[in-house]
Amino acid sequence: MTTNTLASLHRENAASRAVRSIAPASFRIVDETPADVGAREALLDAALGPTRFEKSSERLREGRAPARGLALAARLHGALVGTIRLWHIASASGHAALLLGPVAVSGAHQSLGIGGALIREALNRAAARGHRAVILVGDEPYYRRFGFEQRFTRDLDMPGFVDPARFLGLELTPGALDGANGLLRPTGAAAVRAPRLRPARLRRAA
Ligand SMILES: CC(C)(COP(=O)(O)OP(=O)(O)OC[C@H]1O[C@@H](n2cnc3c(N)ncnc32)[C@H](O)[C@@H]1OP(=O)(O)O)[C@@H](O)C(=O)NCCC(=O)NCCS
Repeated sequence: MTTNTLASLHRENAASRAVRSIAPASFRIVDETPADVGAREALLDAALGPTRFEKSSERLREGRAPARGLALAARLHGALVGTIRLWHIASASGHAALLLGPVAVSGAHQSLGIGGALIREALNRAAARGHRAVILVGDEPYYRRFGFEQRFTRDLDMPGFVDPARFLGLELTPGALDGANGLLRPTGAAAVRAPRLRPARLRRAA
C-alpha cells in the first residue's frame, strides 16, 4: 500500500468513525503545547496508573523528546481529553522507526472515537513527514484496526520484558521493516527540561 493510499484510508476511517460516534467538529486534534504538560501527565496517571514508568517502552522514551510534530492533544471545548506521542527509535539492524505511545483518552470521553482519531492523525502525520514504520506495545485487538501486526516485530527485542502478543508493528512504507532485527534503542533528541525557578528567598540572598 502506498503512503498516499494509507493516508487516505486513515482519513476515510477517521471520518466514518467520527460520524457514528460524536459530531466530528466537537473535538479537535492539535499539536501539544508546553501548557498541556500538566493536564497530559494527570490524564496519563489516571489512565495508566503509577506503574506506567516501569514499562519497557518507557526505556525508549525517558530523557528524550518526542518526534517533531508528533506530540498531539485532543481538545473538547478547550480541555485536553486525549494525548498521543511518537518517538524516534532504531533496531540493532539499523532500521529506523517510531515508537507509538502512550496514547490515552480521559475516562469520561472514551469510546467516542477520540483515541482512533488521535492514532490515525498521528499515523497520517508520520507518513507525511517521511517516517516509514511504527512500533508499539499494546492490545492487538485494539491496534489491528489501524493495521498493526505482530509479524513485523518477530525478530525485534525491547529493552526489557515484552509480551510478544502485544509487540506490534506497522509499515507506512511497504517493506520498511524487512530484515529488522535485534534490540530497539532510542534515537530521539534529548528532552529539553523546563528551567526550575529558584525560590525568591534564595534569589534575593544570592
Ligand atoms: C485505548 C484508548 C486510548 C482508546 O481510546 P478511545 O477514545 O476510547 O477509542 P475509540 O473511541 O477510538 O475506540 C473505542 C473502541 O475501541 C475498543 N477498545 C478500547 N480499548 C481496547 C482494548 N484495549 N482492546 C480492544 N478494544 C479496545 C472499545 O471497546 C471501543 O469499541 P467499539 O467501537 O466497538 O465500541 C482508551 O480506551 C484509553 O485511554 N485507555 C486507557 C489507556 C490505555 O490503555 N492506553 C493504551 C496503552 S498506551
